[in-house]
Amino acid sequence: MSERDVILSAKDVEVQFQVRGRILTAIRGISLDIYEGETIAIVGESGSGKSVFTKTFTGMLETNGQISNGSVIFEGKDLTKLKKDQDWEGIRGAKISTVFQDPMTSLNPVRTIGYQIAEVIIKHQKKSKDEAKKLAIKLMEEVGISDAANRYDEYPFQYSGGMRQRIVIAIALACHPKILICDEPTTALDVTIQAQILKLIKDLQKEYGYTTVYITHDLGVVANVADRVAVMYAGQIVEIGKAEEVFYTPKHPYTWALLSSLPQLGIKGEDLYAITGTPPSLYDKVVGDAFAPRNPYAMQIDFEEEPPMFKVSDTHYAKTWLLDPRAPKAEPPKAIQNLHKRLLSITDERGDYRG
Ligand SMILES: Nc1ncnc2c1ncn2[C@@H]1O[C@H](COP(=O)(O)OP(=O)(O)OP(=O)(O)O)[C@@H](O)[C@H]1O
Ligand SMILES: [Mg+2]
Repeated sequence: MSERDVILSAKDVEVQFQVRGRILTAIRGISLDIYEGETIAIVGESGSGKSVFTKTFTGMLETNGQISNGSVIFEGKDLTKLKKDQDWEGIRGAKISTVFQDPMTSLNPVRTIGYQIAEVIIKHQKKSKDEAKKLAIKLMEEVGISDAANRYDEYPFQYSGGMRQRIVIAIALACHPKILICDEPTTALDVTIQAQILKLIKDLQKEYGYTTVYITHDLGVVANVADRVAVMYAGQIVEIGKAEEVFYTPKHPYTWALLSSLPQLGIKGEDLYAITGTPPSLYDKVVGDAFAPRNPYAMQIDFEEEPPMFKVSDTHYAKTWLLDPRAPKAEPPKAIQNLHKRLLSITDERGDYRG
């Protein structure tokens, strides 16, 4: 993977919001290279900054927010320098497209499904109305709508939630984006439908050749389709690696906690592990490791000094003092040992696959 081209490079990104005269630092210095053609999953609990971080790729921060430091390089341009809507033309919704996984908010209830897809094709691919209709029907078929020609003239309310989600993906693909960001809200679709949607995105990637950034709070959903996983906590990436590294040899105690709270992994007769406490307030300067107060493995230094990103392998990094050579050896919780074998059995049940 390392020899692949970097399609987007974020460096030292910091994002701040003005909230009633106070400053909330939502993103606290993230550097991330995204490789062309990969599927990278960004995981973390609600409020960790997944959406805010990826909104810097499309200039969609709310008006009370600003990128207070860092750069986001895409096609030789620093996206953090683009201010006006017209600067974003040709990038947002064209080369970098976001699928919000709440289809009702992205579809227009009073326009037919077909119209909404064709409209994008006419705009971005400069096709005639007839050609656009043909292409729209083809796209509907590709995203798994059966009887697409007849359903072209139906309205969003006539589609099920899972099918509306497929339409939103079709609309995003209609402009042939280079990067597809899929942002899952906390109130997610049912896990099985999510797995199907993710598989669809993976399948279509071969034909369309986009790079996928998949945002979720459920590590279980991305286990079988992500090439890499980045774990976020309190506005930072705390662990990143190839999917198998993060799942089978996780190093950060927060990743351990996320993995052990997966319901799919519950061990019979044992209580499900729950992460106690809450993340720190982002209004105040965070001292030490942001996860320390909730970390059963925390040492004195965790409360005093911020850990650096320690290198585990060329592709795997984790931001925890446990990786300092001077730290005592810590064993991950029992619930996540032998994860390899147990995840494989989940995979079989769901019929997921790794492409
Ligand atoms: N417009 C805003 N004004 C003030 N604070 C904001 C704004 N948007 C986001 N935040 C704050 O930034 C932090 C990160 O929010 P973000 O929406 O990125 O979280 P998330 O990881 O996407 O969570 P979820 O899983 O719930 O979608 C949170 O503390 C949130 O309250
Ligand atoms: Mg979000």
